[in-house]
Amino acid sequence: MIDNIIMLVFLFFLSSHIRTSTSVNSLAVNQSIRDGQTLVSSNGTFEVGFFSPGNSSSRYLGIWYRNLSPSTIVWVANRETPLRNKSGILKLNENGVLVVLNGTNNTVWSSKMSNKAVDSSIIAQLLDNGNFLLKIGQDDILWQSFDYPCDTLLPAMKLGWDNATGLNRFVTSWKSEDDPAKGEYSVKIDIRGCPQLVIMQRSVNKFRIGSWNGLGFTGYPIQQLKQKQRYKFVFNAKKVYHQYEVVDSSVVSIYMISSSGNLQALAWTSKQSGRIVIYTGGEDSCDNYAMCGANSVCNMDGNIPKCECLKGYVPKFPEQWNMSYWSNGCFPRIKSVCGDDNIGGFLKYTEMKLPDTSASLYNKTMNLVECQKSCLKNCLCTAYSNLDIRKGGSGCLQWFGDLVDMRKFSQWGQEFYIRLPSSVLAEIEPAAVNGNQNKKKIGIIVGVISFGFILCVCLIILRKRARIYHLAPFKWKQEFFRLTKEDMDLPIFEFSFIVKATNNFSSENKLGEGGFGPVYKGTLTDGKEVAVKRNSKMSDQGLDEFKNEVLLIAKLQHRNLVKLLGCCMEVEEKLLIYEYLPNRSLDYFIFDETRSKLLVWSQRSNIIAGIARGLLYLHQDSRLRIIHRDLKTSNILLDFHMNPKISDFGLARTFGGDQIEAKTTRMVGTYGYMPPEYAVHGHYSMKSDVFSFGVLILEIISGKKNKGFSDPEHSLNLLGHAWTLWTENRPLELIDKHLLETCISSEVFRCIHVGLLCVQQKPTDRPDMSSTILMLNGEKLLPHPKVPGFYTGRGLPEAVSTSSNQMSITTFAAR
Ligand SMILES: *[C@@H]1O[C@H](CO)[C@@H](O)[C@H](O)[C@H]1NC(C)=O
Ligand SMILES: *[C@@H]1O[C@H](CO)[C@@H](O)[C@H](O)[C@H]1NC(C)=O
Ligand SMILES: *[C@@H]1O[C@H](CO)[C@@H](O)[C@H](O)[C@H]1NC(C)=O
Ligand SMILES: *[C@@H]1O[C@H](CO)[C@@H](O)[C@H](O)[C@H]1NC(C)=O
Ligand SMILES: *[C@@H]1O[C@H](CO)[C@@H](O)[C@H](O)[C@H]1NC(C)=O
Ligand SMILES: *[C@@H]1O[C@H](CO)[C@@H](O)[C@H](O)[C@H]1NC(C)=O
Ligand SMILES: *[C@@H]1O[C@H](CO)[C@@H](O)[C@H](O)[C@H]1NC(C)=O
Ligand SMILES: *[C@@H]1O[C@H](CO)[C@@H](O)[C@H](O)[C@H]1NC(C)=O
Ligand SMILES: *[C@@H]1O[C@H](CO)[C@@H](O)[C@H](O)[C@H]1NC(C)=O
Repeated sequence: MIDNIIMLVFLFFLSSHIRTSTSVNSLAVNQSIRDGQTLVSSNGTFEVGFFSPGNSSSRYLGIWYRNLSPSTIVWVANRETPLRNKSGILKLNENGVLVVLNGTNNTVWSSKMSNKAVDSSIIAQLLDNGNFLLKIGQDDILWQSFDYPCDTLLPAMKLGWDNATGLNRFVTSWKSEDDPAKGEYSVKIDIRGCPQLVIMQRSVNKFRIGSWNGLGFTGYPIQQLKQKQRYKFVFNAKKVYHQYEVVDSSVVSIYMISSSGNLQALAWTSKQSGRIVIYTGGEDSCDNYAMCGANSVCNMDGNIPKCECLKGYVPKFPEQWNMSYWSNGCFPRIKSVCGDDNIGGFLKYTEMKLPDTSASLYNKTMNLVECQKSCLKNCLCTAYSNLDIRKGGSGCLQWFGDLVDMRKFSQWGQEFYIRLPSSVLAEIEPAAVNGNQNKKKIGIIVGVISFGFILCVCLIILRKRARIYHLAPFKWKQEFFRLTKEDMDLPIFEFSFIVKATNNFSSENKLGEGGFGPVYKGTLTDGKEVAVKRNSKMSDQGLDEFKNEVLLIAKLQHRNLVKLLGCCMEVEEKLLIYEYLPNRSLDYFIFDETRSKLLVWSQRSNIIAGIARGLLYLHQDSRLRIIHRDLKTSNILLDFHMNPKISDFGLARTFGGDQIEAKTTRMVGTYGYMPPEYAVHGHYSMKSDVFSFGVLILEIISGKKNKGFSDPEHSLNLLGHAWTLWTENRPLELIDKHLLETCISSEVFRCIHVGLLCVQQKPTDRPDMSSTILMLNGEKLLPHPKVPGFYTGRGLPEAVSTSSNQMSITTFAAR
């Protein structure tokens, strides 16, 4: 009984304590809250206080929704300056500034000082819309959290520019789920040309949500959200901002940019429902900024992006275009020259995401007819459209120069008109040629306007030029000239220059023998070291392979792929110039009695992981699907820090979007690394590279070559040997004896297991590279391996030859 009374009294005090400590929504001068205490907005929606994000133990002052799950932080004060423990204090100091103090009363964060006079009636208040502000009286606001967004855009928050206060409000992602510090991604309004909303990764565009057309953003299909949210976009001389409100007040709806750069619209329709993701931007490939290069339109066909030149435009590099290298874009089939009389007309496109407006001009009062006339008048104008599509359309938006980052939507997007020479228009759509008829009637007003436009355009172009010059990728001297027009975008070196760099291909400079010829070390006049692969006197077939390699690798960029710096093509000589990797190749180390001691386990496991990442990129993350087809230790080069780089793309093949297998009658590759389905039937797929990767793993661990492996106990090759040891439950006996001291047996065990999974007989049993990586990291359960392919070492049919044999045969034949 007494116990119960004590308990009740205790509960009473506890609850009254909680109530008093949480029912406050504001702080007066000299008042503070400490970690553990919070302010709650008057209707209980938002709360401000200290929290720890994710798995971090650091403390931050933040604002969150009080009743949502999962817990949703919408704003963080000290995002760059975390508190190490729970000794933080939030205080409104006597100068009218909000400060966060740490345990020793040092300020770790403060609100910006206002230049307005402050008196003791100032209070800090958390409003029911999530805005935390400092104010005097009813509406004299000195500072507000809404002016300093973090990763979340709440209803009523303004995103954009205020010319009066000089503020540019934009949203920045967290660094990670555990760290609210500023990450790589931001959502901003770009006010060059016609204002547009963009997601940037550091300082480059990642995804353009687009310009505002009165109803929405042209790159943001919002039909599904229309009933739930109302958008507003204000742009005038003083202000440019975007704001939204939620129509149904029972729904909570916010925008957030995640630490991986996805813009998400999140909603909670009731307390119980949990969080619903209603929109994720920047997810499909067509959202990638300028995915298709200039003057080309991206279209999602199922899950596969496809780029098409605008009508009247042709790919800049047709061969690359055919291989789905789209980023170089398209250019006009017939170039119109400023000054000639052939000013042409316009072709209409519908349901489009309008091109990048950063090089556009707009006029709110012109109508579409005036817009067209003024565009025709200016030979640099390449397209126009309405600025606002409400009420039948109004305003004028014009583009100059290349049209970048367009996509085709269905049931969304906007009409716009591209300009084409009359001759081209007549071919495409005879009826569309009406621009010429208006040609003579253009009045003085339009002339004046276009003069204005031309002035601006000149400025824009000058700026663009300057930027392009600035970004020129190679700062080589006169030793090379860029291949003009029709070829790949790669520096071309003069042969004489390479002769000098390699000391006339002296034997001292020779690094080794590649698939198609020797490789030399060279030193350019600026001291940069390069590796030169010489493919002299090659057959037609060799030439194809050479071209293949150049085209393929020129566009690939990954830290685990060797980098092509340039090439040289003169009559008899075909040279590839690569970055120089001082530590040669993997076979140089692991198969050598003394050098293999230098490669300790941590390095070998790092090499395995690096090769895996490089392969994953080829298979999955580059724009093309690339099958290397000749993965082997001598094609894995090592840089100064022993990081692996995959090289030699002479035999690589690309696959289109959903193609997963191909067949060839000409089997090339290297004995010992080829999977059975390829060696016997000529079938290759990503799983053939996985097989070769499995062989690599086992070679790296054992220090033995698969080809030519011998063991006194049996006549199996390395795969068979590894398999036998595995089935006899003694897999660790595979380990290179030089590795025994440094290796961690659980890691080696896992690697052997993964290696065996990769070399399984059936391609469908082998994991793909993304699973392989997860398995290597121990993030995925490993199934039991089945019998490997070609484990007897004699499985290879006579008919199959190695690439170097084939090469020497054709070379002889050519002589
Ligand atoms: C706040 O504290 C300072 C010093 O502790 C004091 O001088 C000042 O009068 C206080 N202001 C108010 C409004 O209480
Ligand atoms: C926190 O740690 C747990 C277990 O280590 C992990 O499963 C979870 O994903 C982590 N959460 C975050 C946000 O990092
Ligand atoms: C926080 O750390 C400081 C010094 O590191 C210590 O003096 C203080 O007691 C700690 N406070 C809490 C609440 O742990
Ligand atoms: C408070 O911040 C100061 C300055 O950053 C630092 O030197 C001090 O150790 C911090 N105190 C605590 C308890 O974190
Ligand atoms: C911090 O300031 C408060 C109030 O001004 C004071 O009571 C406290 O002793 C100070 N703490 C330290 C570590 O100086
Ligand atoms: C609290 O106030 C906000 C803003 O006025 C309103 O949108 C919201 O529906 C209110 N929430 C509750 C629980 O009353
Ligand atoms: C901002 O305002 C100033 C004058 O108030 C004006 O000169 C300037 O052009 C404005 N800038 C923009 C971007 O509107
Ligand atoms: C591109 O592919 C098409 C059809 O596959 C073919 O007709 C055309 O000749 C190819 N162009 C080039 C430059 O390879
Ligand atoms: C927009 O066009 C109208 C007439 O069409 C012109 O009077 C006005 O000056 C133009 N505005 C700008 C900003 O160029």
